[in-house]
Amino acid sequence: MQQGEIELQAFGPDHIEGAVVLSRQENWPHRPQDWQMALQLSNGAVALDDQGRVTGTILVTPYGMDCAMINMVIVDRNVRGKGLGRRLMDQAFALAGDRPLRLVATADGMPLYEKLGFVPSGTIRQHQG
Ligand SMILES: CC(C)(COP(=O)(O)OP(=O)(O)OC[C@H]1O[C@@H](n2cnc3c(N)ncnc32)[C@H](O)[C@@H]1OP(=O)(O)O)[C@@H](O)C(=O)NCCC(=O)NCCS
Repeated sequence: MQQGEIELQAFGPDHIEGAVVLSRQENWPHRPQDWQMALQLSNGAVALDDQGRVTGTILVTPYGMDCAMINMVIVDRNVRGKGLGRRLMDQAFALAGDRPLRLVATADGMPLYEKLGFVPSGTIRQHQG
């Protein structure tokens, strides 16, 4: 692997610690056990930099063959705008196979998802306590 290169790998339990760093960076509430549970229900990919650090995450949660939810899409702030979000989404499409895809988008995610053909179908309000 060359310096500055970022490679995608299957998301495994060893990547949870790095994933928590990313979700905390976004002020998302997920604890290691929340990532663990999401991972048990999903397939996913991580982006690793040349130091082995997790710089991007994506999970695909299948609902049988009916559909799949894309979730936990995060790219490290330091490497945004370089096509990594799109690479992770391509990986998610491969993991989902023929299942129709759903996702809940943040305002940050909307431009990427709209470019990939997703259209809004409703609004979700999330309350945390
Ligand atoms: C959303 C996110 C994953 C995008 O990652 P990224 O690596 O910067 O995205 P990319 O560089 O692959 O961008 C893909 C396309 O979307 C566009 N895009 C991405 N973010 C954008 C923004 N904020 N405003 C306008 N366009 C944007 C890019 O211009 C690019 O278009 P192009 O391929 O035609 O050039 C990243 O901003 C992020 O982690 N945000 C915080 C977490 C979050 O809210 N995730 C979404 C959860 S639903």
